[in-house]
Amino acid sequence: MKALISILLFSSLTTANAGSCPEKTPQEWAEFFMSKTATIIKDNYPSRYYNGQTHDELKQIAEDCAATFQLNGVNQCADRIIQRSKLRILEDDNDHSMGWEVSDSDYINAVPQGYLDLPDEFKDGLPDNYAEIAKNKGWKMLEYRSRTVPNPPNRSFSRVLFLVEGEKVDKWIQFTLPESSEKKEQLIDFIAMEKPTSPGDKATPYYTQYWRDKQSRNPKMRTQGEFDNCYSCHPNGMRELSPEPGSYSSEGADNLGYMRQAMKNYTVGRGSVDYKGALHPEQYGPPMGEGQGCVKCHNNGQGMHQESRGAINSRTDSGHIQHKMTQDMTMPVSMIPMEKDFFDFMNDIPKLLTETERKNLMSVTARYKWNQGAMYGAIIDWMKANDKIDKEKERSLRFTLNGHPTYPNCEDQPDCFKGLKRYNNYLSTMKNDYPEQYKAWLDEGCIELLPDSQQSTVNDGQRSQGFLESFSDFLNDDEDSSSEEGR
Ligand code: HEC
Ligand code: HEC
Repeated sequence: MKALISILLFSSLTTANAGSCPEKTPQEWAEFFMSKTATIIKDNYPSRYYNGQTHDELKQIAEDCAATFQLNGVNQCADRIIQRSKLRILEDDNDHSMGWEVSDSDYINAVPQGYLDLPDEFKDGLPDNYAEIAKNKGWKMLEYRSRTVPNPPNRSFSRVLFLVEGEKVDKWIQFTLPESSEKKEQLIDFIAMEKPTSPGDKATPYYTQYWRDKQSRNPKMRTQGEFDNCYSCHPNGMRELSPEPGSYSSEGADNLGYMRQAMKNYTVGRGSVDYKGALHPEQYGPPMGEGQGCVKCHNNGQGMHQESRGAINSRTDSGHIQHKMTQDMTMPVSMIPMEKDFFDFMNDIPKLLTETERKNLMSVTARYKWNQGAMYGAIIDWMKANDKIDKEKERSLRFTLNGHPTYPNCEDQPDCFKGLKRYNNYLSTMKNDYPEQYKAWLDEGCIELLPDSQQSTVNDGQRSQGFLESFSDFLNDDEDSSSEEGR
């Protein structure tokens, strides 16, 4: 099916004088394409080096050889590689700043009328009485500090996010807030999420950004070439909020919980979102994290797991993968009760503190802005020093964070737990595994064109299996993983 679509695509590009397809046997074509895959990978993972010559060459071959490939059976081999190369060209194209496969203006023009309109109350920016407005309107509101994304123009981490729920679409509207009174902020991030209407249906996200003037007024939608690349950080439509612990009020803690659940509801049991053809996630390489258990959930909605969702792939911002694994430490996702307790505790910190105490804590966390991996430890220290938790709670939080002191040599003991921090080293294994996994994926359709003797030496794409042994519990895809085996 996929092959068919791209044949149609190729032939529509074929010009009248396309007769210059080089003469090669299917085996020679397979060798030719496989000789290009390393370059294509280098161009999007882990670096973003752009080898224009290779992409231009492949584009030309796609135009000249579409008919030939269809006749001689090479299309199975050519298809994936050429398509990935074509998509790579678009990734650097200024008219595709949002990162879709259609241009920014085509993308915005295709959004149903009204979806990306700001509510009247926000037509001139953020009014001073925004909290009151949200309350009167029944909009959920969360004022928080992001752990990861410094927004332009002043690199602010402060945000206020509104959830304006509607029958057909929910509008998620996020204003960047100033970090000091003399600074004015300009960005508004906006996702309109069209809700699924039937059991087989998927939610569709529509993205945009507005830019306010230097007085934070008069928001105008950004135009072609000016946007951020949403998909690179939002592989599943919405992006789970990961605020700095304690950076929101006690009421905010309730709204955070509500918003997280609302985000989850869009995809749970449906697997990922529907980009309505603006992007084809399955064409950007195999899902990353095969050997680390990530693909159980991050699989483009292909898996059986009820958390099945958008894959991590060559388009995913590597800094954000790193953040989820080594800094906020929520990935691979936490499922054992001890870990759940840990994150519930961090989420609900504002409920244990007065506003003054909360500000004090924030001045401590601020010191860890660039060392997020150490932030949880510092928070536990502060909570204990200020008598917010007892010795028992402190012990259990530290244990969850650090694991058993002699891990992994504690096998004979009941509490031989790895600890959230120790999952950090999966990151490098995962990153190192990926290029080979990626190459195997690109080469997949070419290998069968090689003579038998060559196939066995190339086709060992499953090499990451060995790593799984220490992990087998987790990968036993049991749906009911609320037991001890999770994570
Ligand atoms: C560099 C990574 C990155 C990019 C690029 C990015 N986002 Fe986000 N976005 C995030 C993160 C992370 C969050 C969650 C809040 C937090 O913890 O900072 C988020 C949250 C949001 C939210 C609040 C609702 C939610 O999903 O959590 C909106 C709205 C949003 N982004 C819109 C956009 C739009 C529109 C684009 C593209 C024009 C975009 N973002 C590009 C990282 C990114
Ligand atoms: C059991 C399911 C599950 C597993 C396994 C899992 N994740 Fe996730 N992942 C999620 C969910 C659910 C979210 C949304 C955030 C949340 O709920 O904490 C998420 C969010 C993320 C995000 C932010 C982008 C997004 O999809 O919203 C990244 C990056 C990520 N995970 C990376 C990983 C990596 C890397 C691994 C493997 C080391 C992994 N995850 C394993 C379920 C999972």
